[in-house]
Amino acid sequence: MSELGILMASKLLLLFFFCHYSIRKAQSLQSNITTGSTLYTNSTPNFWPFSSGHFVFGFYPSGNRFKVGIWVVGSPKNTIVWTSRRNDSAVSPGATLVFSIDGRLLLLSSTRQVQPLAQTTQAAAVASMHDSGNFVLYNSSSKIIWASFDYPTDTLMVSQKLVPEKTLYSSVSKTDTSFGNFKLLLARDGNLYALPIRSLQDRKYVYWSSSSGSVERNLTLNLAADSRFYLSSSSGSSAMNLTAGGYLVDGSKVLYRATFDVHGILRLYRHQMGSQGSSNISILWMAIREENRCSVKGICGPNSFCSIDGADLSCLCPPRFEFVDPKQVSIGCKLNLTAKKDCFGDNRKANYRMTSLPNTAWEPNEYDLLSSVNEEGCSENCLEDCNCVVATFRDTMCFKQKLPLRFGMRNSSLPTTALVKIRRESLQNDTDVVVNKITKKLGKKLVIVGLVLISLSIFIFLLSEYLIFTYRAWGCKMLMMSNI
Ligand SMILES: *[C@@H]1O[C@H](CO)[C@@H](O)[C@H](O)[C@H]1NC(C)=O
Ligand SMILES: *[C@@H]1O[C@H](CO)[C@@H](O)[C@H](O)[C@H]1NC(C)=O
Ligand SMILES: *[C@@H]1O[C@H](CO)[C@@H](O)[C@H](O)[C@H]1NC(C)=O
Ligand SMILES: *[C@@H]1O[C@H](CO)[C@@H](O)[C@H](O)[C@H]1NC(C)=O
Ligand SMILES: *[C@@H]1O[C@H](CO)[C@@H](O)[C@H](O)[C@H]1NC(C)=O
Ligand SMILES: *[C@@H]1O[C@H](CO)[C@@H](O)[C@H](O)[C@H]1NC(C)=O
Ligand SMILES: *[C@@H]1O[C@H](CO)[C@@H](O)[C@H](O)[C@H]1NC(C)=O
Ligand SMILES: *[C@@H]1O[C@H](CO)[C@@H](O)[C@H](O)[C@H]1NC(C)=O
Ligand SMILES: *[C@@H]1O[C@H](CO)[C@@H](O)[C@H](O)[C@H]1NC(C)=O
Repeated sequence: MSELGILMASKLLLLFFFCHYSIRKAQSLQSNITTGSTLYTNSTPNFWPFSSGHFVFGFYPSGNRFKVGIWVVGSPKNTIVWTSRRNDSAVSPGATLVFSIDGRLLLLSSTRQVQPLAQTTQAAAVASMHDSGNFVLYNSSSKIIWASFDYPTDTLMVSQKLVPEKTLYSSVSKTDTSFGNFKLLLARDGNLYALPIRSLQDRKYVYWSSSSGSVERNLTLNLAADSRFYLSSSSGSSAMNLTAGGYLVDGSKVLYRATFDVHGILRLYRHQMGSQGSSNISILWMAIREENRCSVKGICGPNSFCSIDGADLSCLCPPRFEFVDPKQVSIGCKLNLTAKKDCFGDNRKANYRMTSLPNTAWEPNEYDLLSSVNEEGCSENCLEDCNCVVATFRDTMCFKQKLPLRFGMRNSSLPTTALVKIRRESLQNDTDVVVNKITKKLGKKLVIVGLVLISLSIFIFLLSEYLIFTYRAWGCKMLMMSNI
């Protein structure tokens, strides 16, 4: 076929799909995509529309570039539920997605590099998106040869399964679906484990598990149509219910999804679909309660600690530490090294003092441990040890901590006090921690507090000026009177 021929053919095809789709939509049938179809990043069509209208497959924007995936159409925002080649960098505008004549699903970058989006051994004849959100490829005898449901990213949809030894990885952010900081593993022992991505498969770092306590192994994670979220054995019988379910079953009005979110928490969501694409998203269940979000290991980086204040989660640096990158506070803190040098010199103790942070603790990882001491004894011991920067004190135990400090948190129910060695002349007071919020709310509060303080000081200043003035005037008057 000549290029012109292809162009004509694809135009016809487009026209065909357009008309076809309008009719199909009215009939609420599943639209099938045939070989030879193409999607574009910056011209229509940039996605393939499907019958239910809730799910769409195509290019979605990621920064000013694009990724290929599936999303739930909704206003004000679409929700991405699957991404192809999620950890590849997004493609520049000008890329195309081709369902080739020879039955392969290919991504062509703007520089004409070709990457397969589905690894299949047979040629596909038809591509289709089921109303469940599953994008599938069929061979010419209508057998499924590839399904997006078999490659979960961070989300499970109704009827999608997570099988033993498979993992969901959190995304970097809602718009960047690359691998984030956490993973959720369905182990052979029948339990789900949430842990930081960088740790080995070490149970020590698990911060949440389904603890099914089940003797059964090889369990599968499922989401039922009524939103019941459960682990089942190979025979299909439920071994453990994470949620009871029982919500409305009506795929045209309501969708359920389970997402292992950016903050390392598994949550079950409900999308209530309204007319004109409006949708309400609500959380039906979460593995870790809002007020315990600091228990997610790695939510704040090394040497920092996590603190919750209402809806705000903050990562804070202890005294003598500063943010590695003040713009990305969750990366962690580093020791202010300018303040380190002279500890091993002559007047080592003279230069330092200890400051305490109540209800603050890190992962137990000490290089030295003292027992039967009080808090002063712990402080004194750390002060005399040049290698000691931070000690934690609990009951009568003093833990001299190794750096980097990890998995730190502050919580009024923690019985541990952190003791930090700081320079004697340091302006930092006991409660001075470097505050920087992940969320903006507190920033506003601080601004308000600041404004109030400024107004108050102006008021006090004016008042004192007035008092001084009147006092002086009165003094002058007295002086003048006494001189008379
Ligand atoms: C994903 O990509 C990032 C940066 O491009 C890289 O640091 C990370 O190791 C990758 N993760 C995996 C699991 O490949
Ligand atoms: C389609 O796939 C099925 C199952 O893998 C296979 O039995 C069948 O022969 C395939 N059909 C064609 C035309 O390749
Ligand atoms: C779409 O293709 C599949 C596989 O060939 C077929 O089973 C299904 O009936 C088709 N749907 C429509 C609406 O044509
Ligand atoms: C779990 O499945 C694997 C392979 O699928 C199998 O080798 C293993 O024996 C199974 N374990 C149990 C306890 O059923
Ligand atoms: C889970 O819930 C379903 C439906 O309510 C119920 O039939 C099943 O027995 C429950 N399974 C367990 C292990 O409690
Ligand atoms: C979403 O919630 C608002 C307010 O609660 C309500 O008015 C609206 O009807 C809801 N929309 C859907 C689609 O449920
Ligand atoms: C401290 O942790 C407990 C449970 O572990 C939680 O209920 C409480 O809300 C937390 N308090 C703060 C301030 O984070
Ligand atoms: C680091 O320490 C030096 C010396 O004590 C001090 O002048 C400086 O302000 C500190 N920097 C931060 C960010 O605290
Ligand atoms: C630190 O706190 C003490 C009393 O708690 C106060 O007297 C002192 O002025 C404070 N220092 C600074 C630098 O804020």
